[in-house]
Amino acid sequence: MAEKKTITVFGGTGFIGRNLIGKLAKKGFKIIVPTRNPYLHGYLKPMGEPGQIEVLKFNFFDFSNLNEFIKSSEIVINCIGVLFEKKNQKFDYVHHLFPKFLTSILDKEVTKKFIHISALGANKDSNSLYIRSKFQGEEAVVNNFKNSIILRPSIVFGTNDNFFNLFNKLINLLPIIPLARAKTKFQPCYVGDVTDAIIKIIEQINPNKVYELGGPKIYTFKELIETLLVSLKKKRFIIELPDFVARVQAKIMQLLPNPLLTEDQLEILKSDNICSNQYPGFKELGISTRTVEIILPNYIFSQVIR
Ligand SMILES: NC(=O)c1ccc[n+]([C@@H]2O[C@H](COP(=O)([O-])OP(=O)(O)OC[C@H]3O[C@@H](n4cnc5c(N)ncnc54)[C@H](OP(=O)(O)O)[C@@H]3O)[C@@H](O)[C@H]2O)c1
Repeated sequence: MAEKKTITVFGGTGFIGRNLIGKLAKKGFKIIVPTRNPYLHGYLKPMGEPGQIEVLKFNFFDFSNLNEFIKSSEIVINCIGVLFEKKNQKFDYVHHLFPKFLTSILDKEVTKKFIHISALGANKDSNSLYIRSKFQGEEAVVNNFKNSIILRPSIVFGTNDNFFNLFNKLINLLPIIPLARAKTKFQPCYVGDVTDAIIKIIEQINPNKVYELGGPKIYTFKELIETLLVSLKKKRFIIELPDFVARVQAKIMQLLPNPLLTEDQLEILKSDNICSNQYPGFKELGISTRTVEIILPNYIFSQVIR
């Protein structure tokens, strides 16, 4: 029997990565998941046959043995990303320098595709460091490795997502939901559709270079929270914060270890996060996408506070 192809998934322990690993395992790939904390992510292994999924210790600040994780991989996928900076977690390092180095050492005789998860709106001129670092990462990846494919998703939702689950917690704690830039538009996409897109791109002989991944409906930030409230069968008053109040709130919140809002995120919220339609997306990949209204009630539940 032919040897199964090997795929390395950096960030395979994250929200999108975890959803992807199960699908890749079903397709029969051998999967390598480098992670900073392998002992926390052993649950990934039963998603495949014994020995099919390897979860390996990876020192994110030492690139000297990076080649060990990719030297026999036909496909390399990068799902590593962060939403805010910390002392040891800088956007430039995580979104730009890491994928830049990774693609500089890929052997094109071995690796046939590099799939890089960026973000919708990646732009060199943005005032947001996050958005600029995503753009710089894309640019470096494309310059270093010809067979790179960039995916730019809007907000991604699904079980254990970082968006609706966070607001679910807030709704449980607060009688009033304060929202900065409530009119900003988003085009959320279901994680099952994003991972289907990745599978299609792996299987296609000649995929496009950039895909924008936006779901079937556009919502304002406020409409997304209202949709969440409908799913939870709860009522909350939503207050649209004036800009200067939001800025003070972000200044204070970003001092916390896991901030809900930072000044950089306020910058991101200045622009709508919807597809430009200058690039192909789900439709061109033949994927029929699912709405928030269909999926959200299946996984979001009101939390009991103990
Ligand atoms: N989720 C969304 O709504 C969304 C929207 C647009 C774009 N994206 C992009 O899609 C990619 C995947 O998103 P996700 O939601 O799955 O991300 P995630 O769950 O937050 O985490 C992704 C991975 O990043 C690694 N990671 C986190 N902090 C790190 C750090 N300081 N240094 C090194 N590695 C770190 C983690 O690996 P270990 O802890 O195992 O080392 C984790 O598996 C990211 O690039 C993200 O920017 C996501």
